[in-house]
Amino acid sequence: MGRERWAAVDRYLGDQLLGPDAVMEAVLRENARAGLPAHDVSPTQGKFLFLLAKIHGARSILEIGTLGGYSTLWLARSLSPSGDLVTLESDATHAEVAKRNIERAGFAPRVDVRVGAALDSLPALADEQRRFDLIFIDADKPSNPVYFEWALRLSRSGTLIVIDNVIRDGQVIEEGSPDPNVQGVRRMNAMIAAEPRVSATALQTVGNKGYDGFAMALVLEDSAEGDA
Ligand code: SAH
Ligand code: DHB
Ligand code: MG
Repeated sequence: MGRERWAAVDRYLGDQLLGPDAVMEAVLRENARAGLPAHDVSPTQGKFLFLLAKIHGARSILEIGTLGGYSTLWLARSLSPSGDLVTLESDATHAEVAKRNIERAGFAPRVDVRVGAALDSLPALADEQRRFDLIFIDADKPSNPVYFEWALRLSRSGTLIVIDNVIRDGQVIEEGSPDPNVQGVRRMNAMIAAEPRVSATALQTVGNKGYDGFAMALVLEDSAEGDA
């Protein structure tokens, strides 16, 4: 029982619970046509992000790592008409594909794709006094610790910070791993653990993207965990 079964179950869940979705299917087709790496969240994960943002009533969303805009559009779909989303992407080609997908899906007026290394764009958001209700971190994993710090800076009490790819086939438990992605996740987890302003957990997932998972950290009203 492995990856093939996980992928088959994802197909089943997609058919049963998500149904046909011409907009999202077109995005994945366009991304493949443009030769983008298939690093988008899966459909069931995208719907999960959409539901999280809905449950949270998020009106402003920040994403770090746009790729072709697949997760971006799932999150953008959750917004009320006055909500907005900022997404950061360093690769100009990825950003162009994403902008086209976002335009075609009708979300261009509410989605701001900022091209450039996230670490160059994040200070501008702070200067603009932006605060976000939900922040999705899904870019270069070695930078996860510093992205988490920025996420805290761009948060208000009640902000939900979600981080993708934190399990990495289980390699996250390998203390001495030479993989900088694993070390990035481990250092971020240590920061989260030491951070009294958040209440956090992580979930392992299997599916058509293999074995991985999400972490989430809720920025607390005050620094007492009991108030989470
Ligand atoms: N969130 C997307 C997948 C993102 S893949 C989805 O689920 O659909 C990771 C993306 O982060 C890639 O497009 C990569 O180009 C981008 N990235 C890598 N390093 C970056 C950096 N320093 N700043 C901003 N984006 C970066
Ligand atoms: C990779 C990055 C991702 O964000 C993802 O969801 C899957 C894979 C990667 O860089 O390999
Ligand atoms: Mg990811």
